[in-house]
Amino acid sequence: MTAQGIIYGIGLGPGDPDLMSVKARRVLERVDHLAYFRKRGAKGHARSIAAAFMKKSVSEFAMEYPITTELPPDSAPYRESLAAFYNESAAHLRALSNQGHEVGILCEGDPFFYGSFMHLYERLKDSQPIEVIPAITGMSAAWTATGQPITWGDDVLTVLAGTLPEEDLCRHIKATDALVVMKIGGNFDKICQALKDAGKYERAWMVEFASMEGQRILKLSDVSEGRKPYFSIIVVHGEGRRP
Ligand SMILES: C[S@@+](CC[C@H](N)C(=O)[O-])C[C@H]1O[C@@H](n2cnc3c(N)ncnc32)[C@H](O)[C@@H]1O
Repeated sequence: MTAQGIIYGIGLGPGDPDLMSVKARRVLERVDHLAYFRKRGAKGHARSIAAAFMKKSVSEFAMEYPITTELPPDSAPYRESLAAFYNESAAHLRALSNQGHEVGILCEGDPFFYGSFMHLYERLKDSQPIEVIPAITGMSAAWTATGQPITWGDDVLTVLAGTLPEEDLCRHIKATDALVVMKIGGNFDKICQALKDAGKYERAWMVEFASMEGQRILKLSDVSEGRKPYFSIIVVHGEGRRP
């Protein structure tokens, strides 16, 4: 019987390929099969971070998200469409592993931090050998780009998804010392309102494309209203105890 090949969830870091771990790079340089998510018609962001270290002969499996924008994210048809997509993708990766191939799944940032990879991991972990390679997250690159530490002493850090309702955002923002808000996009105006209501708007920064080409660091109060790039993060630095 052929031994099953290991499936790797390869954390690639926040964008700059120099911020990738040695282990991630070693696996990338070795595997013959690589899989990655991408939007239909796009090259795939994770693939572009990994490109310089991939074997020329590597076999690629692009997992293209189904178009679901016309469906509400909390509806059954939306969930079913995505579940079918993850099931089919996992079945393909399982077959490769059962044939004895090592497979790398490319993940922007850390694989276990709000990543699509986790949906494959849940489907594969009980039947296949799978190893996850951790990585620097986008938020770490974002607060580093601001040139200020995010937490001091016993500061509490809260990470929020901008997709939450405004009142939930406001409640969590009021309660925390330091803050990271991910998934800004079309949620920008709602997040700004929540920050204003919680009294932290004036201390907030926005970082677009942290550690990538086009990185921008802006005081939130200098940013105009409207949709923001997918790769945007808002941070409020803690002001805790220090000698
Ligand atoms: C699906 S989550 C993936 C998070 C990723 N696994 C990580 O470890 O950072 C995508 C969100 O992460 C944030 N993000 C990730 N990397 C980023 C970067 N380099 N610059 C700005 N935002 C980033 C954005 O808020 C984006 O909407």
